[in-house]
Amino acid sequence: MIAIRETSLSNPFHSGKVRDTYTVDGNTLLMVATDRISAFDVVLPTGIPDKGAVLNQISAFWFSQTSQLISNHLIALASDRPDLDIPPEIARMAMVVKKAQRLDVECVARGHITGSAWSEYRKSGTVQGQSMPSGMRDGDPFPEVLFTPTTKAEIGHDENMSFDEVIDMVGTEIANQLRDKTIEVFMYARDYAESKGIIIADTKMEFGLIDDELILIDELLTPDSSRFWDVGEYEPGKSQASFDKQPVRDWLDEAGWDHEPPAPILPDNVVEKTRERYIEAYSKLTGATLN
Ligand SMILES: Nc1ncnc2c1ncn2[C@@H]1O[C@H](COP(=O)(O)OP(=O)(O)O)[C@@H](O)[C@H]1O
Ligand SMILES: [Mg+2]
Repeated sequence: MIAIRETSLSNPFHSGKVRDTYTVDGNTLLMVATDRISAFDVVLPTGIPDKGAVLNQISAFWFSQTSQLISNHLIALASDRPDLDIPPEIARMAMVVKKAQRLDVECVARGHITGSAWSEYRKSGTVQGQSMPSGMRDGDPFPEVLFTPTTKAEIGHDENMSFDEVIDMVGTEIANQLRDKTIEVFMYARDYAESKGIIIADTKMEFGLIDDELILIDELLTPDSSRFWDVGEYEPGKSQASFDKQPVRDWLDEAGWDHEPPAPILPDNVVEKTRERYIEAYSKLTGATLN
């Protein structure tokens, strides 16, 4: 029986801004979504209770919903693996996954124009070099979902990749699959979420190979990897409120923070409001209560 001991849990094999990844064995990883939160690309000193559990369980929800479209790395929620001996407060934020050979492409799907796509469009009328209809407003839907891949930079910012650059990296067959699966999974989830009152404006997916089979890895369609907007508040022509992080962003701006680390400590009422937003996103999407 495999056992994650205290020693291995206190020693992640990879620690990202928000998630910590541990080795279970040569083929298996434990991915823990912590309560850490980032805003304006900086990790804040204050965590949001239950955020990790929400993100973990939203990913698990989508992996299960989309498994007919493409296989994925999820083996089990950590809470369903008592043999691993993970403390319950960590288990609810964690999943056991198959270790894959990661493809170094961030597969971005965009249903609505905003962010870097909006900045480029305003300057040149294009999004990643493709011409777009004139007269679009910030937040408008694209006529068709776009695949706008970027590099996965270890250091510094991700850079846009042309489709030819994706082909050079992974070959034509896999490049086509990355594009088609990214769009297919996104369209399924976007339509589902919209019927539950959440617009998923765009998202980022990662893929890997196990024995030459392409699978989805990492997190899937969470508020950290996607832009979630409230259907009821959606109003194109301006930057949209974030379903989950808006209370944090608003407070940070009111506090006059210059977006350079260190960020200020969040007051309790902002933490609580934000926690409620994450839990609301979870229950709207899944119809379930958070474990
Ligand atoms: N099944 C998997 N096999 C191998 N690597 C994975 C798998 N799922 C996710 N990863 C990688 O694990 C890492 C998770 O890190 P993350 O917490 O997102 O931080 P960051 O992206 O900032 O490095 C990413 O590098 C991701 O590509
Ligand atoms: Mg990541």
